[in-house]
Parts: sequence; C-alpha cells; structure tokens
Amino acid sequence: MVTEAQLHEKIVQHHERILILDFGSQVTQLIARRVRENGVYCEIWPFNQATDDKIAAFAPKGIILSGGPASVTEEDSPRAPQSVFEMGVPVFGICYGQQTMVTQLGGKVESGHHSEFGRAMVDVVESTEITEGLWDKGAEEQVWMSHGDRVVSLPDGFTIIGKSEGAPFAFIADESRHFYAVQFHPEVVHTPHGGQLLKNFTHGVCGCAGDWSMAAFREEAISKIRAQVGDGKVICGLSGGVDSSVTAVLLHEAIGDQLTCIYVDTGLMRAGESDQVVDLFRNHYSIPLIHKDASDLFLGKLAGVSDPEKKRKIIGNTFIEVFEECAEKEVGNAQFLAQGTLYPDVIESVSFTGGPSVTIKSHHNVGGLPERMNMDLVEPLRELFKDEVRALGVELGMHEDFVKRHPFPGPGLAIRVPGEITKEKLDILRKADLVYLDEIRKAGLYDDIWQAFAVLLPVRTVGVMGDARSYDYVCAIRAVTSTDGMTADYYPFSHEFLGRVSTRMINEVRGINRVVYDITSKPPGTIEWE
Ligand code: XMP
Repeated sequence: MVTEAQLHEKIVQHHERILILDFGSQVTQLIARRVRENGVYCEIWPFNQATDDKIAAFAPKGIILSGGPASVTEEDSPRAPQSVFEMGVPVFGICYGQQTMVTQLGGKVESGHHSEFGRAMVDVVESTEITEGLWDKGAEEQVWMSHGDRVVSLPDGFTIIGKSEGAPFAFIADESRHFYAVQFHPEVVHTPHGGQLLKNFTHGVCGCAGDWSMAAFREEAISKIRAQVGDGKVICGLSGGVDSSVTAVLLHEAIGDQLTCIYVDTGLMRAGESDQVVDLFRNHYSIPLIHKDASDLFLGKLAGVSDPEKKRKIIGNTFIEVFEECAEKEVGNAQFLAQGTLYPDVIESVSFTGGPSVTIKSHHNVGGLPERMNMDLVEPLRELFKDEVRALGVELGMHEDFVKRHPFPGPGLAIRVPGEITKEKLDILRKADLVYLDEIRKAGLYDDIWQAFAVLLPVRTVGVMGDARSYDYVCAIRAVTSTDGMTADYYPFSHEFLGRVSTRMINEVRGINRVVYDITSKPPGTIEWE
C-alpha cells in the first residue's frame, strides 16, 4: 500500500516549490494563492513545525516568511528556524516575517507608536533584482500596511530599497544573500503590484520556471490515485457541488468503474438539482451512480425542529446513516472513500492564544464516516484551492457554468427556512430561488457574485392581490461578494433589478407576497441566515 506521505512526496518532488512559513497572519493563504497563480507549487507550514530536516527534504527554491499577530519584541515570540537563513536559498520576509528576519540576523525592531494600517505610499530609493521591470528607482508605489512594530536598524549586508512615511525600512534587501523583506503586504489586492513582486521573487530571484499547471496536476493526480487504489473499489459521495463532482470525474478518469458514486437526496436541494446530478453523472459521464431518495426520512426527522444547530446535527447524522447503509448494501467491500477535501481544510492554522499552539481545521463533508466504515480516504484535491479546483474541472472537460456554481451549504435549504421546516415551505422557497437566480443570470451578474439565494422567513404579512387581501410569507433575498466566504459584502443591486425580482416573485410564486433585500455584511452578519 502506498502511504499518504509517499504520495505527497511524489507530487512534491516533481515540481519546483516554494515554502511559506506561517506566523499566523489572516492572509497567509493569499501568499500561497499568488505564488500558485504564477505557476509555482508551494506549501504553507506552521513555523513551529518546520524542522531543519523537513525543510532540507522539501528542498524549496525559496522561502517566504508570512506576517503574524505577535511582536518580535515579546519574550518567546515566534522565530524561523535559523537554518532558513543558512541553506543558501532566497528568503522573502513579509511584515512579521521581515521583523523576525531582521531580529534573527542581528538588526533591531522597536514596538509601540509606529502603527500604520491601510494604504501607504512607498518611495523606491534603490533598484534591485526583485523590483526589476516593475518598480523603478524614484517611483512612488501604493502598498497595504498593517503593523504595530517597525524595523529601526538593519542587519549587516542589508540596504534600504523603499521607505514610507511610517516605516523608514519599508522594503529592504541583502542582494548578495538574496534576502528581501517588506513591511507591507504584497499578497493583498490593495498592493496593486504585489502579485508581480512575488512573481519577481519566485521567478526572477529563485529561478522558478512556473510549470505548475492544472494539466500537469491532472496527470499526476491520476497516477497517484491509481497507485493508491490499485484494483480496490472506491465510493464517492456526491453533493451536487463542485468539489465532490470534480473529485468524482477525476477518479473516474483514473480508475473507471472501480468508482461508484452515491447521491443522497435529502429533499433539501434546490429545484431540479437532483435530476441534474443524476443526468450529469449517470448519463453524461456514465459513472455508476446510486441515487438514494431519502427525503421523507430527512423531512420526518426535521419535523418540529427550529433550532439551527439541531437541524445541522440531525441532517449530518441522518446523512451518515443513509450513506453507510447504501454503501454497505449496494456497493459492498469498498476499501476507499473519496472526498473533495481542499487545501484550506488541510492547512493547520497557527494560533497564539496561550503561546504558540496548533489547531487543525477539519471540515469533512461526511465527517466521521471513514473511521466508522473502516475505509481509507482518497482526497485528490487536498493540495488545491477552490479556484484551482474550478480550473481542474475545466481541464477535465466539465462545463464552465457547472464549475462556476456558487457554494451551497451541506444542510441545504434547511438553513434557508428559519424556524420549522415543512415540505410546503421548501417548495415555495425552491420556486422563489429559481426566479431570483434566473434574474441574476439574465442580468449577467452571476459570476460577479460569490453566493446568492432566497430565504423563506417564518413571517406572514398582509398584502393586496387584485382586489383580495393576501396573508403570505416574506421572502428575503441575499447576494454577497467574497473571496473565501470568511468575510463578505452585500451586493449593490440596482433598485430596478430588485424591483424586477420582487414583481416576478410575487406574481409567480404562490405563498409569497412580500420581498425584502438583506444588506448585512459579514461580519457582523453571516452569509446564511442560520
Ligand atoms: P456563513 O453563513 O457562516 O457561511 O457566513 C460561510 C460559508 O459556509 C457555507 N455554510 C455551510 N456549508 N455546511 C456547509 O457545508 C454548513 O453547515 C454551512 N453553513 C454555512 C455558506 O453557504 C457560506 O458559503
């Protein structure tokens, strides 16, 4: 049996790679995304898990030190392993990464009274390899700052490349050792040329060619899956979403009919969704698919339940029961369970409460199943971000409209019917949601929006329809922009658009006589209502 570590090694050793040491910044994942967008494979490791041996074995072409919430002036604050600066590879320090680099190499950082948050201008005072063709000497560049401490004296060998009003050492370099460090955040969009700066580091300084592409990934992933699975049987749970669908199509390409998909219909899906899943997988891809209609079971168990967390628990547990029974009865002796776990679920986040510690984020769609069923996991998307999964889907021939679908929560429409769920309410919501998304698509706005959906409120209001009095439900409509679902802004629809949706919904959907638009951002709101 090939172990997960061996498989990981296989994918890693094939590509030039960059190591990102994480000091706990909220935006470390963005560094990885920028690096990968430029065609270079990279991994994020918590700073305190990067031993000298592990780093040497990974053999990165360059190392990036992330930002972080600590202050290097505090006792026991995080440091990079000293070997990072001694192994002869280029190093790029960002914010906290700059400060620990400076401290570890003999310079000085001061805390207090130097906070700088938000947009700032950096005067470029020197040209270097990393700014070549990008920032000329004498230019003024917009950057995004977010720091409390600042560098006050440089280690030997360093010079100033750029300065800002609040940070005289905003951008520094030791060109002979290929060490670069910035006080600002090149990985965020508010530093307009930040992505290019990171590219100059990975390509120009570290010499990466940028051969990380979805075509290459697909080939490797297929051989990895074959090596792991051999002639074993694999089960994959489909949710109708992008991640599980891409997982299934990739697996099918790798192992053909050794794969069986199970689609558990909870009765909580949107209009037409179940039919689409069955049609796509059974008819279009000819992938063996078990379609288990368990909607009566789910709705029965949810009857009378209003509390959102109770709903989630009931749905999660019922899903596991149905899936397990289905797998055992209809597939038998499968050794492997495939899941669409993505890189953000795998990355261990660094937390600083009560000293450096590591918490593992685990968000499995069918949590607990593999252990219960004594199966090994196949997770071919573990190294990918969401946008890379979409690109892989396209590479696998999946339709763009399908891979660009908005995220849909596991508990489905159950958390879009606040209060008690009934079949009648779900049917009203499905119709309303259909009208709303139809208008969004017609207006060409679907791809500008992270997520859009209707919510059926447990409130009836009085209206007038023709000459008659109506007493029907209120429908709230929601649309947000976001990059990762962690924060979100409400979408600024025109009044005309909102009016059109309201008119159509009230005319076409019986049971709704009032429409309201949710203008709450996240935080303080959440994207879903429950
Ligand atoms: P919130 O509502 O927390 O949502 O702002 C953030 C993102 O997560 C989705 N979401 C869920 N996904 N199971 C899921 O698989 C859940 O219980 C769940 N709750 C929220 C939500 O749709 C949004 O994309």
